[in-house]
Amino acid sequence: MSKLEKNAYILGTERAELHRLGLQHQVWDSEARAAWKFAEFSAGQTILDLGCGPGFCTMELAYMVGEYGKIIGVDKSKHYIEFLQQNAALHALENIQLKEASFDEMDLSTVSLDGVYDRWALAWVSNPEEIIQKIADAMQSGAVFIAQEYYDWSMFQTTPALPALKKGIAAALQSFMDMDGNINIGRHLPELFAKAGLEVIRIRPMAKLATPDDLTWQWPKSFLNIYLPKLTQYLSPDEVEAALEDLDELEYLNNATILCPQMVEVVAVKG
Ligand SMILES: C[S@@+](CC[C@H](N)C(=O)[O-])C[C@H]1O[C@@H](n2cnc3c(N)ncnc32)[C@H](O)[C@@H]1O
Repeated sequence: MSKLEKNAYILGTERAELHRLGLQHQVWDSEARAAWKFAEFSAGQTILDLGCGPGFCTMELAYMVGEYGKIIGVDKSKHYIEFLQQNAALHALENIQLKEASFDEMDLSTVSLDGVYDRWALAWVSNPEEIIQKIADAMQSGAVFIAQEYYDWSMFQTTPALPALKKGIAAALQSFMDMDGNINIGRHLPELFAKAGLEVIRIRPMAKLATPDDLTWQWPKSFLNIYLPKLTQYLSPDEVEAALEDLDELEYLNNATILCPQMVEVVAVKG
């Protein structure tokens, strides 16, 4: 997983990011499962996993819908789609249908969906309204769309605040603000769902406050270790090094905490 991809996903698709997504899934899996239960995702259904990435959710959803159901995974990353294809074959999961495509190119015209799951996918697009409408059109009556996205990335902070780390976190936020898309798309989803003719049935904040001995700590830690060195337009190598040194120091301070970027879950149903 080392070749560069055209129009690549901002965090990359190399092995370290693949593993970071796996760790991230360990931290957020219970929230995904709670949402799937609320939406009554179950055997025989057809569910779209939007921006499936390497497929940590796709594989779990495939077991849930079973042999008479189907999971459609869409992602623009060739590397992730190939990885997921191999993983699905290894586990003899024949109910996973994968499309290597951008959400703009994704063709859902012949699909009838019972459910949609989006986690950290809509944040990266500049035309979420169009993408959501295309998906809503492919949903059958009663189908449920679950989105779990950032509501306020700027909530990301540490106690105590260490100056170089604070600067690194601010640079990461700035890079997201400068990209296409909206890192805080979660806050706009109720309105976007309503515009697409979907009825919002649940809005739920999802907050995480990490302490060093908690697995959750590894989520912001792995993100910063992978992402800050990529921010060459925003931080000098010395600033990156200082930020990551602060992060190491923080981990050994008594009573340190990291408040993670604020997430939200929005669930909507097609009437
Ligand atoms: C943060 S990852 C999340 C992966 C997965 N949903 C999860 O929760 O583990 C974002 C994924 O969205 C994909 N992605 C981002 N923008 C996309 C677009 N415009 N079209 C298709 N895939 C996109 C990336 O390739 C990446 O795999």
